[in-house]
Amino acid sequence: MQRVLSGIQPTGNLHLGNYLGAIRNWVAMQQDMPCLFMIADLHAITVQQDPAALIHATREITAALIACGVDPARSIIFAQSSVRGHAELAWILNCHTPLGWLNRMTQFKEKSGKNKESAMLGLYSYPVLQTADILIYQATHVPVGEDQKQHIELSRDIAGAFNRAYSHEFFTLPEPIIQKQSARIMSLRDGTKKMSKSDESDYSRINLTDDADTIAKKIKKAKSDVFENMRDDLENRPEAHNLMQIYAALSNLKLEHVISQFGSGNFSTFKAALAEVAVTHLSPITARMNALMANRDAIDAVLKDGAARANAIAEPTLAQVKKMVGFWRE
Ligand code: TRP
Repeated sequence: MQRVLSGIQPTGNLHLGNYLGAIRNWVAMQQDMPCLFMIADLHAITVQQDPAALIHATREITAALIACGVDPARSIIFAQSSVRGHAELAWILNCHTPLGWLNRMTQFKEKSGKNKESAMLGLYSYPVLQTADILIYQATHVPVGEDQKQHIELSRDIAGAFNRAYSHEFFTLPEPIIQKQSARIMSLRDGTKKMSKSDESDYSRINLTDDADTIAKKIKKAKSDVFENMRDDLENRPEAHNLMQIYAALSNLKLEHVISQFGSGNFSTFKAALAEVAVTHLSPITARMNALMANRDAIDAVLKDGAARANAIAEPTLAQVKKMVGFWRE
């Protein structure tokens, strides 16, 4: 039995990098395998959140997933906090995870910054919760960006440790499916930095909520070094490289193809073409998303249905785990 699980945090704006790097692949995967797509609100509160913004972002991501083509009748879209088993299994797994394994996690080192003493315990054990997210559904495939690869490897280690502790091949070891694309969509202001929802400049990213004029304006203002011959030395010209990569991804072409089409021309011609491709591709998504956001009841119905279906898969796994561990039950 194959099953896909992935998650996205409800923090800030969804942007082109999320779409090309993650969501578009999710849409494709649901054709082949049963999928669960989780809005990781338990993970979001590992750093401080504004409650009103958090719940708004949860609904907005739900709308975005549907607008991008995730089919809520086929795939399960749900909020992590609405399946209690995640937190419960995470505790049990906490008790099977040596500190040394967590000390190696590079994301904690980055996110906790200079002052490790004031980082929250939840941020430290974040990868154990992520492991519970995956194992509670016995997911076989986990599509993630390159930056999450270490967490999925840890999940495999924890699953193995649990299985050994109870001498039973109980948990499926999940396979990461690394989405190369997501590593490559960079900021429009600095081609060496990933496009990010936390960048203070809104001109650094194209949001899924941007209208056509805004998209065109952002592309026009994108950093573009010199104007002639974009082809030359593309590896050392991160902005030109990134914009061509975006064009290639949106129009389903190979980068080489885009280079040969536009590489010897000037930048303004290329940017005009890119703006057109971006608007054509994203406008229908934005329109669907806005229509959904205007109908909160419909979004809430999707999340409610998703929670029920996710719980139905999670409950038997958790019951089995509790039995293996030796917890009392009626
Ligand atoms: N940590 C992931 C991210 O920030 C989100 C996430 C939470 C996730 N739980 C998951 C991804 C389980 C895959 C599987 O991108």
